[in-house]
Amino acid sequence: MDALISSTLPGTRDLLPEEIVHWQWAEEQARRIFERYGFLEIRTPILEPTELFARGIGQDTDIVGKEMYTFRDQSDRSVTLRPEATASVVRAYLQNNMHRGSGLTRLYYIGPMFRHEKKQKGRWRQFYQIGAEALGSDHPAVDAEMIEMALWFLQSLGVAARLVINSVGCPNCRPGYIERLRKELAGYLPGLCEDCRRRATTNTLRIFDCKVESCQAPIGRLPVITDHLCADCAAHFSGLKLYLDAAGIEYAIAPRLVRGLDYYVRTAFEIVSGELGSQNALAGGGRYDGLSEILGGPRVPALGFAMGLDRLVMLLTDTPGAGRHWRPRLFLAYLGQAALRKALEIARDLRHQGHACYLDYSHSSLKSQMRLANKLQAEHVLILGDDELRQERYAIKKLEDSSQWDVTLPELAEYLKSCD
Ligand code: HAM
Repeated sequence: MDALISSTLPGTRDLLPEEIVHWQWAEEQARRIFERYGFLEIRTPILEPTELFARGIGQDTDIVGKEMYTFRDQSDRSVTLRPEATASVVRAYLQNNMHRGSGLTRLYYIGPMFRHEKKQKGRWRQFYQIGAEALGSDHPAVDAEMIEMALWFLQSLGVAARLVINSVGCPNCRPGYIERLRKELAGYLPGLCEDCRRRATTNTLRIFDCKVESCQAPIGRLPVITDHLCADCAAHFSGLKLYLDAAGIEYAIAPRLVRGLDYYVRTAFEIVSGELGSQNALAGGGRYDGLSEILGGPRVPALGFAMGLDRLVMLLTDTPGAGRHWRPRLFLAYLGQAALRKALEIARDLRHQGHACYLDYSHSSLKSQMRLANKLQAEHVLILGDDELRQERYAIKKLEDSSQWDVTLPELAEYLKSCD
């Protein structure tokens, strides 16, 4: 006999029925709230051409450089399991000519993403995101509205979180700032960690992501981008703050917040929770006004965010129905072949009428069927033996108080309806 294949790949897992109730609740709330803001669901393929992410997210990012599940398919095409969905949504937007329509296009998605990251609490290689993207406007009110929606969604789930915002500039002001940063950095380089030294030339802004203790003091002395924004980016950032203030949304400005994807311009934000440990980002997002052009489309100012469902679910304590087991309304206990056939017919009718029914197929005695019914916490047991079949009257027992009486089938249907 072959060895049992008994474990999932590292960083992946099964989500079992008792956890799924939390996932379903979060997903339902997202649909309900996002649709009020005009977001419609989109489902893009999980497998996309590698080029989409390489160009969209950026060659020098950790995601593209080290974390993608990329392979050649049977047609010798390089394909990748999506590490995120923003590039896919913009691709779908362009491919399906949504940019020809008028007004904003608002889309949301729920689904798995794949990154080959180091395993850590709150970090998975197959993880799930709920994300939203608004395409077609550069107005800062759209940014504020999107943030408001994300926070309301969390609030509706009883999750407390903090908002941090930044502006990461644009192709007009960022190169000058990076130049300045590199000059300042040159003095510190010998004392910095290997990652920082590499990033100093490849992806300078990512220096701010370094967690190494000895790098923190020099990094803290580096100039921040918010002091080097061009007039347009500064006005946009002021606009965002104005609309957030008007909505009564609290935020902290984090001038060293840089995001791990290269497409961001201007607004960058994260929603963080103090209860998640080192992987404290529940959601991250921002503007990506240049992404459509990077993918070969026209200019489409846009922004979005994605929330990590795996992390979110860790914080849910008020999920309705959590811990509740499935209970049959009616357990049909039978003796013999003819009774089984009748029991199946009755169960079919009652299920169509909306009642959960259960039958046992282990050839067991009436006594052990009753034992199982108790274990399943069935509300009622219907007993079908030869006599009951002949008389077309069945014994029904309510397990809660052990009361028992006889019913015809129409009476049974009527009674169960009254239990709703
Ligand atoms: P991201 O910051 O890479 O952004 O991911 C967003 C969220 O996904 C994170 O805040 C985190 O909650 C969750 N997440 C990321 N990686 C993992 C992981 N390995 N395990 C568990 N959860 C994880 C994006 O993906 C952008 N596409 C967001 C966006 C949308 N920007 C604009 N539109």
